[in-house]
Amino acid sequence: MKRVYFLLVFSAIGMNTYAQKTIDQKVTELLSKMTLEEKVGQMVQYSGFEYATGPQQSNSAAVLEEIKKGKVGSMLNVAGSGETKAFQKLAMQSRLKIPLLFGQDVIHGYRTTFPVNLGQAASWDLDMIEKSERIAATEASAYGIHWTFAPMVDIARDPRWGRVMEGSGEDTYLGTKIGLARIKGFQGKGLGSLDAVMACAKHFAAYGAAVGGRDYNAVDMSLRQLHETYLPPFKAAAEAGVATFMNSFNDINGIPATAHQYIQRNLLKGSWNYKGFVVSDWGSIGEMIPHGYAKDGGEAAEKAILGGSDMDMESRVYMTELPKLVKEGTVDIKLVDDAAGRILTKKFEMGLFDDPYRFSNEKRQKEQTDNKKNREFGREFGSKSIVLLKNQQHILPLSKSVKTVALIGPFGKETVANHGFWSIAFKDDTQRIVSQFDGIRNQLDKNSTLLYAKGCNVDDQDRSMFAEAVETAKKADVVIMTLGEGHAMSGEAKSRSNIGFSGVQEDLLKEIAKTGKPVILMINAGRPLIFNWASDHIPAIMYTWWLGTEAGNSIADILFGTMNPSGKLPMSFPRTEGQIPVYYNHYNTGRPAKNNTDRNYVSAYIDLDNDPKYPFGYGLSYTDFQYSDMVLSSASLTGNETLNISVTVSNTGKYDGEEVIQLYIRDLFGKVVRPVKELKGFQKVFIKKGENKQVHFRLTPEDLKFFDDTLNFDWEGGEFDIMVGTSSQNVQTKRINWVK
Ligand code: GLC
Repeated sequence: MKRVYFLLVFSAIGMNTYAQKTIDQKVTELLSKMTLEEKVGQMVQYSGFEYATGPQQSNSAAVLEEIKKGKVGSMLNVAGSGETKAFQKLAMQSRLKIPLLFGQDVIHGYRTTFPVNLGQAASWDLDMIEKSERIAATEASAYGIHWTFAPMVDIARDPRWGRVMEGSGEDTYLGTKIGLARIKGFQGKGLGSLDAVMACAKHFAAYGAAVGGRDYNAVDMSLRQLHETYLPPFKAAAEAGVATFMNSFNDINGIPATAHQYIQRNLLKGSWNYKGFVVSDWGSIGEMIPHGYAKDGGEAAEKAILGGSDMDMESRVYMTELPKLVKEGTVDIKLVDDAAGRILTKKFEMGLFDDPYRFSNEKRQKEQTDNKKNREFGREFGSKSIVLLKNQQHILPLSKSVKTVALIGPFGKETVANHGFWSIAFKDDTQRIVSQFDGIRNQLDKNSTLLYAKGCNVDDQDRSMFAEAVETAKKADVVIMTLGEGHAMSGEAKSRSNIGFSGVQEDLLKEIAKTGKPVILMINAGRPLIFNWASDHIPAIMYTWWLGTEAGNSIADILFGTMNPSGKLPMSFPRTEGQIPVYYNHYNTGRPAKNNTDRNYVSAYIDLDNDPKYPFGYGLSYTDFQYSDMVLSSASLTGNETLNISVTVSNTGKYDGEEVIQLYIRDLFGKVVRPVKELKGFQKVFIKKGENKQVHFRLTPEDLKFFDDTLNFDWEGGEFDIMVGTSSQNVQTKRINWVK
């Protein structure tokens, strides 16, 4: 009996001692037991076999064998409590039973999908954005997913680049705030809680600045521009404790991001002191060979590990090359220990060593399979992401008792397309998704008639359906056109040289307009499109992005005034492709145009107006908001004082509504030229009709800092314009002087 007692006591002490060990100590202890191949194995990630999100390479049988040998650290595109459990069981057959991490692109929702991210950014609603990621994390973790490859925080000023759809647009301040809201939503109460997933700041870095908006293309810019515009969302993410980073396919000034020591080691793991790990973007390590930066897999692996890439997604060079490179002394084992250690640390933090199957839970998955509350949230979020661009004679909102409505266009009865790009479509989704037709039908009075005609396809020259569409329009009291770009025409590898309406959509619109019926145009897209004819001839236009599972209901809520539109554009909309890049926070140049049509020896095109078709921060409401009594706490400040700004916003229209009040500054003179405007604050405020609210902002010298030509980040005293308004082009301005 005594022996048993002592054994129990010793094992309890043993367990207690182990449990008391810090994660660092556990990682060090585990590493000391691992072979070189097992350490490198932790740095290997393969895609699952059901579908790929890149040029597929996985050979399933071989991968399963490698998992059993402890030569795989993570899988992506494996989800579901059953599937993840099956893969995890294979990992538990390995010598040290190190659990796998399961990653997935949960980009704008999982089972319940939400507006594509650029649409979400148009809501300017950080609470809604955070909540959407909280829901996404709850649903994804219930499906056994540990890690999402999001948020994408790439600033982008070129709408030809298809991946603008998964970002937050052109502005660094807005993009940073949204990125932080997403990370908070994903990681929730912290890694290890069952409804939290590891977030991943991507694509590090400057992927959105690809030359010509052509995906995967070169990026070439000054380090100053890199620090000023593209790095801040990543630095903020690192400081906020984002679990992982993903690097980008592009080179930066000639060095592929995957091997870029300056950004991944000097900055991220150096001055930013980042302790998470960096995963390559699909095969980007091996892609250094076609980049012409590595002559073979060995050189690619060497440059990637030296450059700070910890995990190799799908390129396979780490597993095949790193052990050799270490054994021959080319790569220091310390780099492998550091990389494997970072990855193991996350597995401990996620509680996977305590219970490798803790996220693979059939019951939790069932609860999250079609969560009604999540859908209700998605419906509201969709409505808040819609941007009202035009509403002549207040044609909108429509009455629900309109006798006959015609819905015309290729998207009216689409279902899965409403997911947009980067959503893991489930086989049952055709039933679960609310089409535009169904959403409108749901809200129209039962005595009203809803007609539908497709009118044309998205992207061909077939006009054979025009006649039927015109006849349908003639029978209606109002026509709702639904045009734009297909849901898979934005996203990865979807760069477009022409961002107008594809196919014969605009011709169809013109034919329908000729009927003389009142026309409302809904534009479905994942990016800014060019639609000048519609802008100039159609009385009501709303940008509906791709809104996810509840799309049809979100749209109908706006069409019939159940919800008042409150979205604002997160990107400038160009007049032509020739005007790209066009963005609000540009430099003034030595010859600024005096107005929209100034051509006289100024920085302008001789054949185009100077402003974008629709500016950053623009969006209408069904009601009217008036700005008045803009007051600054002082017109001259010194040193570390705070500038308080207040403005009164009055709802003088007929509807309650939300308004996004925007705060911009202009630093009039600097040791480097400064943008004509910089967003430095915004508040989304609900104001009942007939009421008003006083809105307050604060600025300190910290808000005035910028990178100069020596990369010094500081502020300078001098004159500043302080601007408050309803869009980047509609502001009230007061000038101050701030002495340093
Ligand atoms: C893709 C994308 C990246 C994604 C990854 C995994 O190529 O660039 O954003 O997370 O591969 O699907």
